[in-house]
Amino acid sequence: MSQPLLSVTGLGVQFGTFAALQDVSFDLADGETMGLVGESGSGKSTLARAILRLVPATRGRLLWRGEDLLSCGARALRQRRRDLQIVFQDPMASLNPRMRVGETLAEPLKIFEAGLTSAARATRIARMLERVGLSPEMARRYPHEFSGGQCQRIGIARAMMLRPKLLVCDEPVSSLDVSIQGQIVNLLLDLQREFGTAMIFISHNLAVVRHLSHRVLVMYRGRLVEVASRDALFGAPAHPYTRALLAAVPDPTRAFAGRALTTGEAAPAAGRTPPALGGCAFHDRCPYAQPVCLDTVPTLQEVEAEHIVACHRWREVVYS
Ligand SMILES: Nc1ncnc2c1ncn2[C@@H]1O[C@H](COP(=O)(O)OP(=O)(O)O)[C@@H](O)[C@H]1O
Ligand code: SF4
Ligand SMILES: [Mg+2]
Repeated sequence: MSQPLLSVTGLGVQFGTFAALQDVSFDLADGETMGLVGESGSGKSTLARAILRLVPATRGRLLWRGEDLLSCGARALRQRRRDLQIVFQDPMASLNPRMRVGETLAEPLKIFEAGLTSAARATRIARMLERVGLSPEMARRYPHEFSGGQCQRIGIARAMMLRPKLLVCDEPVSSLDVSIQGQIVNLLLDLQREFGTAMIFISHNLAVVRHLSHRVLVMYRGRLVEVASRDALFGAPAHPYTRALLAAVPDPTRAFAGRALTTGEAAPAAGRTPPALGGCAFHDRCPYAQPVCLDTVPTLQEVEAEHIVACHRWREVVYS
């Protein structure tokens, strides 16, 4: 395999005494879409923010084409900011209400392509607005004049302006009307294919994740519990938590095709018992739990090539 675009090793984020992210490792290839799922509070946004250096990682390594992202200096980081973009959950809140859409889209060009004339910038902005399904005249308007879906198109246009190598989408459609979620997802997919952008796509909507991911990461309480290709994850999940997630959406494919995209959590109700110190965090909700699960943290093991799972009893899960 060629050098990964992004390589995450043993990443941890601590908020005070609370470990929001623990020992997260994975690689991402150029142009690859990695779905990231897990119930609310499992650390998905924290992982996204740590990769973008919006929150400090307290442990681990982040390599960008082999170059250290966590210790790089201001200049190298600035260059990375051009390659690494994010689309947020709440499109309205992520746009500056006092800036015209055209000014918002001009910003990245002014910073990174300072040599452009204002006419050339206007052309780039008009083209990008059209590319995301808006009209060029909209550059003169303010965010409040747009619907949520249109604001998200603007957020996507801003993120794609410089043709980033990696686009992190943190629940980009969760706050939108069900009727337009599919359009936005398909827009992201089209742009990604056209520009060859790699994507980390965070969602609790498994139908959407299945629709666009090559591989899927499943997180539970700050840890990775399963990583697999889309087909392996949806076809032969090996972690009891992944199974519970999938069971909550009986047929994700149909849910996507037929309007019934769920916007609520597709996860089982949160357990009331805190995780055992040193044990598996899922033990209080797990139908497969055994005494070993209470005192030993399961490490990631290989089920087959490219399919790893953190569960002491994955064989029983897979073969039951
Ligand atoms: N800045 C912060 N300070 C303290 N705790 C935080 C902060 N950001 C997130 N958390 C906590 O970290 C956990 C994971 O949050 P988050 O990454 O937002 O989860 P998700 O995106 O999966 O819903 C949650 O318990 C959340 O309350
Ligand atoms: S390690 Fe034990 S408690 Fe945790 S998911 Fe596996 S069987 Fe369940
Ligand atoms: Mg989040």
